[in-house]
Amino acid sequence: MKVFVTGGAGYIGSHTLVALLAAGHEVCVYDNYDNSSPVALARVRQLTNRDLVAIEADIRDDDALTRAITDFAPDAVVHFAGLKAVGESNEIPLRYYQTNVTGTMNLLTAMDAAGCRRIVFSSSATVYGEAQYLPFDEDHPIAPTNPYGRTKAMAEGVIRDWASATPDASAVLLRYFNPVGAHESGRIGEDPQDIPNNLMPFVAQVAVGRRAKLSIFGDDYDTRDGTGERDYIHVVDLAAAHLAAIDYSARATGCEAINVGTGQGITVKELVAAYERACGQPIAAEIAPRRPGDVASSYAATAKAERLLGWRAALDVDDMCETSWRWQSDNAEGYGAA
Ligand code: NAD
Ligand code: WQD
Repeated sequence: MKVFVTGGAGYIGSHTLVALLAAGHEVCVYDNYDNSSPVALARVRQLTNRDLVAIEADIRDDDALTRAITDFAPDAVVHFAGLKAVGESNEIPLRYYQTNVTGTMNLLTAMDAAGCRRIVFSSSATVYGEAQYLPFDEDHPIAPTNPYGRTKAMAEGVIRDWASATPDASAVLLRYFNPVGAHESGRIGEDPQDIPNNLMPFVAQVAVGRRAKLSIFGDDYDTRDGTGERDYIHVVDLAAAHLAAIDYSARATGCEAINVGTGQGITVKELVAAYERACGQPIAAEIAPRRPGDVASSYAATAKAERLLGWRAALDVDDMCETSWRWQSDNAEGYGAA
């Protein structure tokens, strides 16, 4: 099958490419490398011993996008391209709306021009906002609390409306919880450009000596040990969920939102302890004030993914930390040094 992958050079995209190529699919990546490196694509080629087409262009450029999709004529599209930093989305909201919402509209318009009717979209558990109950199931109210989350909720709405207006269309909105970890080879992984916003890459950089210590944002939450609890999902499991979603889109029409998580909450302290086991050294950490906007707990109801996709997470927190550490210790400066 021919799969067009926007944002394929990024963290989740590159791991999904490995799974797509290993499964025998033909791939075209469309990425402007705003937050990624072509080195990741070179490593994907090495890992899989397969080639792929790569187009360097912006999803805001509707002419380039339409040309690329029309030329490649994909059976399905996986749409990762977007901006994802919550804090930054408060500072430059219009850039987030242009990239994440207008970019998605450009993509669907280009798909219409090329006659492609299947899309798998990178959504986020952040669309749920504050938990009214846990675990989050897909019927939980949508109430994002920041511009980034609102762009994801709006893009979901655009895709849903497109799917209901387009005969035979099939759209899967994958709501990721907290993707972490790396490919077992240690050759591809998460490579934040600045100070990491997220817990796992920050811990990894402390472990490798790039940062002095971790600040644990609050230890007075109503959780087992007082620190924030999240549903970390191994990026290799997440990649497999995309393959299952592409398969599902071939046998179903309409639009479905589906959580992708393990269903298990892990606290900050538990994750740090697992990382210490993986890297064999202590992680320097101090308790700091709560981060504004953070919630105590977030974890997924996973029944819908099992029922519709036949997918469930297989890898645990030790796998997540071991592979993150392999990637980080083999590539202390990420792709930058390559
Ligand atoms: P990433 O930044 O590594 O990947 C995004 C890719 O999109 C990058 O390769 C970037 O260069 C590309 N891109 C950005 N703007 C572009 C543009 N205007 N035109 C073309 N390409 C562009 O991020 P990721 O972690 O791999 O996330 C992938 C998707 O999953 C994003 O849409 C993100 O919002 C979503 N998501 C991520 C997480 C997470 O915690 N990592 C959680 C939920 C959802
Ligand atoms: C996890 C836990 C922090 C950093 C974010 C986005 C969300 C989604 C995933 C894209 C929390 C604590 C963190 C640190 C810490 N992204 N923490 N010290 O906030 O659940 O979700 O990424 O869609 O939209 O909001 O993930 O990794 O930032 O935080 O103590 O230096 O780690 O307080 O409890 P979060 P995170």
